[in-house]
Amino acid sequence: MEYSSDLNQFVEFKLFNVKNNLTPLFLKREDLLGDGISGNKLRKLKYNVVQAIKEGHTQIITFGGAYSNHILAASYIKKNYGIDIIGVVRGEELIDKVEENPTLKLAKQNGMQFHFVSREVYRIKMSQVFLKELKDKFGDFYLLPEGGTNELAIKGCEEILTADDEKFNFVCCAVGTGGTLAGLINSSFVNQKVIGFSALKGDFLKEDVAALVAKNNWDIRTDYHFGGYAKVTSELIHFMNEFKSETGIVLDPIYNGKMMYGIYDLMKKGYFPKNTSILAIHTGGLQAIDGMNRLLQKKGMPLIND
Ligand SMILES: Cc1ncc(COP(=O)(O)O)c(C=O)c1O
Repeated sequence: MEYSSDLNQFVEFKLFNVKNNLTPLFLKREDLLGDGISGNKLRKLKYNVVQAIKEGHTQIITFGGAYSNHILAASYIKKNYGIDIIGVVRGEELIDKVEENPTLKLAKQNGMQFHFVSREVYRIKMSQVFLKELKDKFGDFYLLPEGGTNELAIKGCEEILTADDEKFNFVCCAVGTGGTLAGLINSSFVNQKVIGFSALKGDFLKEDVAALVAKNNWDIRTDYHFGGYAKVTSELIHFMNEFKSETGIVLDPIYNGKMMYGIYDLMKKGYFPKNTSILAIHTGGLQAIDGMNRLLQKKGMPLIND
């Protein structure tokens, strides 16, 4: 079978000037990239797909949770490039809930095959024992880690910044595993500071990212997680809906909404010096809104406008 490895054909850059009275802020619309695989996911998958093809693999195995952006993005590998893709999904109970879950439903339509495992097994997913089990069941495969972060993913994320971006003083992005931030740090310019906004509770990401980069022109803000991964508050939703009505741009509640809230908050607190400008990276992830709105509705909370 012939596979196309030219993912660049989908790459298109869009900058959006977010007007505000504080610090000049531009948004790099990575969310508009790609044919189904948007944002940092396309960047992370690009060189991995190329490598899988080079090594002669015809199937890829990867991991994720029920609403994972990565699982959905990976499903497009099958749809767009014809390579078989198996998603190892956390939660055995999901086995007969695929049709109710917008992420899994679409991933299935794209041709992803699922392997549901318990939370206990999911925790040891990278162990030799479990990987051997997968090999025995599915045969040879290319392994793509959870969240898609590995060296090749970071290499892909290094391409987010281009020569035109040198004029910005600050580069901001959301952080999950730290791969996107690591790529941005690697390709950042001498006078730039790169700031990650952690979508998770805790401080451990600083250590993870430090192990991936050689520069020290960066920081991770750990105070805008809104309670932890995939947790939201009415205040965050209100901010995202205001941002949408002012700019027309939709943010996802898990990553970019939190990053943008953090940027605005830091602006108001005078964190960014006078005469500096910010480039924020919109990494996509909008597919999560549908699932999140279903949860919010059940809890009687305000919904995200998209
Ligand atoms: C939309 C979106 N933005 C940002 C991130 C964070 O990226 P990383 O895991 O590379 O830190 C993710 C997670 O994978 C994501 O799905």
